[in-house]
Amino acid sequence: RDPPSAMGEQEVVREELGNLHGIPLYKSFIEGWPQVEAFQARPDDLLISTYPKSGTTWLSEILDMIYHDGDVEKCRRDAIFNRVPFLEMKMAGLPSGVELLEKAPSPRLVKTHLPVQLLPTSFWDKDCKIIYVARNPKDVVISYYYFYQMAKMHPDPGTLGEFLDTFMAGKVAYGSWYEHVQGWWKKKKEKKLLYLFYEDMKKDPRQEVQKILQFLGKEVAEETVGRILHHTSFQEMKKNPAANYETLPTAVMDHSLSPFLRKGVSGDWKNHFTVAQNECFDQQYWEHMAGSDLHFQMEV
Ligand code: A3P
Repeated sequence: RDPPSAMGEQEVVREELGNLHGIPLYKSFIEGWPQVEAFQARPDDLLISTYPKSGTTWLSEILDMIYHDGDVEKCRRDAIFNRVPFLEMKMAGLPSGVELLEKAPSPRLVKTHLPVQLLPTSFWDKDCKIIYVARNPKDVVISYYYFYQMAKMHPDPGTLGEFLDTFMAGKVAYGSWYEHVQGWWKKKKEKKLLYLFYEDMKKDPRQEVQKILQFLGKEVAEETVGRILHHTSFQEMKKNPAANYETLPTAVMDHSLSPFLRKGVSGDWKNHFTVAQNECFDQQYWEHMAGSDLHFQMEV
């Protein structure tokens, strides 16, 4: 039995996904949709937007550190899912994302995985700053496969081969990766949106943190940047209970099946894809990305 917890007391059961305006999504999130759609953004909100498994938690920790001038202790004040509320999240026994956000002091950091066309209009009306992070789809699908196993709100992923088919058919939670990354990419042309890549963050985290600081119009001491980089490294985050999701009950996420901070590398798909799966995936990739100026590095 899980230890008593203030959160997620109820047993989480694997359930098929529902459909929100054509996007496959958890049924409990769909129940909470009216509150999300009516959400009132504030002009100084910063939105962190990603397709799942693309580095959301990493970017969230970096931003909370920037917002607290590199004060590690302040960034341990609460779990990442409370410090950076997940806008469309709604689960029995847990405060919803909207409820957490309504209580949060400004300036707020807001996390979402919504495809661009479903973002509550208030974020556009208030002209909020947005940072999007994208990751190559081969690493995303592997990370998602392990996440489906450990996070119990997902349907059973089946074998990796079956899950690859589901992903390629756009039938995983949040739908088509292609539509997500391209939809947000197009928005970059007209809105205050910084579009980052997980692979760049792996290659040169300092440079990406500098891009973020510039986008936010913030200046911090070199020493502070060093502290931010150290605290948000994979090894540090993996052992930090405020960042690694281990404070959630095992009924919600079972880290013995796969830790939330699993490997944190680029190119792990090579350890999983068969040659045939890779060829099939590549073919779909080129069909969807042909003619686009959006490019991904499949390894670094
Ligand atoms: P892997 O499963 O490939 O290890 P999200 O936060 O969007 O759910 O993404 C989770 C993925 O980001 C996981 O990928 C996780 O290990 C990785 N990740 C989290 N923090 C990281 C960090 N500080 N550095 C590198 N990767 C990180």
